Amino acid sequence: MTYSTSSQTQTQTLDAAARAILKTNDRGGYTVPNGRVYPFQWNWDSAFVALGFADFDRDRAWVEIETLFEAQWDDGFLPHIVFWKDDSGYFPGASVWDAHKNPATSGITQPPVAASVIRWLWDSGSKSAREAERMAALYPKVLKWHRWFARHRDPEGRGLVVATHPWETGRDNSPEWDYPASGVDISAVGSYERRDTSHLDAQMRPTKLDYDRYLAIVQFGRDHDWDHDVIARTGPFRVADVGMTMILLRANRDLLALAKILGRSKDYAEIEASIEKTRAGIDWLWNDEVEAFCSRDLISGRSSAMITSASFLSFYAGVGTEKQNQSLIAHLDRISSKIDKMLPSLDPDHEAFDAMRYWRGPCWAVVTFLVARGLLDEGQSEWAERLRLDTAALIRDTGFYEAFCPVSGRGTGGDLFSWTAAMWLFWAGKA
Ligand code: GLC
Repeated sequence: MTYSTSSQTQTQTLDAAARAILKTNDRGGYTVPNGRVYPFQWNWDSAFVALGFADFDRDRAWVEIETLFEAQWDDGFLPHIVFWKDDSGYFPGASVWDAHKNPATSGITQPPVAASVIRWLWDSGSKSAREAERMAALYPKVLKWHRWFARHRDPEGRGLVVATHPWETGRDNSPEWDYPASGVDISAVGSYERRDTSHLDAQMRPTKLDYDRYLAIVQFGRDHDWDHDVIARTGPFRVADVGMTMILLRANRDLLALAKILGRSKDYAEIEASIEKTRAGIDWLWNDEVEAFCSRDLISGRSSAMITSASFLSFYAGVGTEKQNQSLIAHLDRISSKIDKMLPSLDPDHEAFDAMRYWRGPCWAVVTFLVARGLLDEGQSEWAERLRLDTAALIRDTGFYEAFCPVSGRGTGGDLFSWTAAMWLFWAGKA
């Protein structure tokens, strides 16, 4: 594609703006997703942010991931938030989680994109001895985290990832969690003061009922001293998440590639076995009626029967029969005829679709990016490019918002958002 001079200038301006966001949100070794709404280090945000830094400061890119892994627990668990410094602008803070760690952390994890990001970082660099050293130092830590998933997040041995809190999935208020969370007892939650709605329009955020449930599930974990075995077997929220499962499957493939680069032959069989187990187990998430991969509640056995942006991560994970892939592409065709910009976080034909409310409709650059990568890998280059161009247009027309309305293109949630800036630099802004 050839750019006219004016679009070249526009790209340069956006590149500079994206870099400035990452620099402004850099707290020295880690980057906050957004200075006001999310003032700590978030797990999968940092992984994506590293890709953004790779565009102009490779050392800083590695540091982002290294800092995140400094907060890894001894058993391999990698927390979803690291509270490096106190900040009263966010609720629930470190004292609510009460995980007794130094640095203070939350007690749940997030989608494991780190292995894939490390591979992208490695592949996009000069493969210098220094980067090889850094990659080699991170490798055992990532392996340990993946082992933690196998041991503590798959209580039925299906090869899937069981999320024990909606926040773990990274798709906080996806309607996929409405039914599984409906049994959570919120009677002992008590009163609390949310901070998110003092920074942002409440219409764009999860509801009070969502938050009551989030807190009740946190209380359960805290009451069980964050014993992840107990939580995954008996907790009030247990869902085989299609997003985390697909992301872990891809991450295991990338980890295997890293193991091969490093010659860690003693690990190959173990990682291959994990890949095979998930590949074989994934069909439990396929819903024949809606013809898509959907999350499934472990407590009731019920499929969400919802097509979300995460349903399309099957391409990224490299799973799906030809027929399944055809159905998914047909869904992309249908969805794109209903809205202006891809990829909405929920099927616009679903009754729960809400174009401005967080994970119930808006487009999120990070998930769109992962889906686009998968589509490209599976030979769907036109679709991959459509997703990239739509994301680029949303950012260009609106700014670096947390997410975007798929109908009007308006920004939703926080602005000057780190992972949106990173996705511009690594992907959307690259012709
Ligand atoms: C919200 C998002 C989650 C993200 C976090 C920080 O909780 O749902 O995916 O990691 O904000 O940006």
